[in-house]
Amino acid sequence: MQDPLEIKKYIDKIFTAEEPKLTQARENSRRRGLPNIQISSHMGRLLALLAYLSKARRVLEIGTLGGYSTIYLAKNLPKEAEIITMEIMPGHVQIARENIEAADLACNIAVLEGEASKHLDQMITQKTPPFDFVFIDADKKNYPNYIIKTLQLVRPGSIIVCDNLIPKRGELSQPKHLDENAAAIHHCNQILASHPNLETIVLPANIKNNGLVDAMSISIVKQRTL
Ligand code: DHB
Ligand code: MG
Repeated sequence: MQDPLEIKKYIDKIFTAEEPKLTQARENSRRRGLPNIQISSHMGRLLALLAYLSKARRVLEIGTLGGYSTIYLAKNLPKEAEIITMEIMPGHVQIARENIEAADLACNIAVLEGEASKHLDQMITQKTPPFDFVFIDADKKNYPNYIIKTLQLVRPGSIIVCDNLIPKRGELSQPKHLDENAAAIHHCNQILASHPNLETIVLPANIKNNGLVDAMSISIVKQRTL
């Protein structure tokens, strides 16, 4: 029988290399007391690859934490690209700005402090140019809200990636028994699976240190919601 933790250990052993600027960002975040919940380096590499392949020039991230995933998103982008990343916790914003500054990236990165929903509403009202790539990794109860708003801020061909689509607790096949966050994630999965403007794949490819399996989704936007 395969054991997910053994598979994780094997992959971690072979694919350990993490660029110094990412190790530095992760360690600084840890030192400064941020929760150790940033994406894994493997998922970071997936983000960097997708942002590069999609030739993204305008990138939106909802949920910055310490900027570890932001650095992955930025690392293969040219200097004319820009990333807007949103974070509600002022302390996190400060640490993210330090980490991003220290990473010395080519493209322009703005860390917006405050509630993402409000920033998104403002962008929708202002008819901001569409984002080519969106990464959602924030408070789980707002995921459906973030997806629906994001669909008004993209173009056909944009990519939307969501982290954490498998709740830690709760019976996925019995949505009535899910807690608030898990219910929102289940709702988000339903939107990703059935929204007419999206085509989505889910990758249950992220094995955590505790042996739990989590998933990221990758969606391609077929049409912007007006
Ligand atoms: C946790 C993990 C995440 O990736 C996240 O975005 C939030 C919380 C966690 O393990 O608690
Ligand atoms: Mg996450």
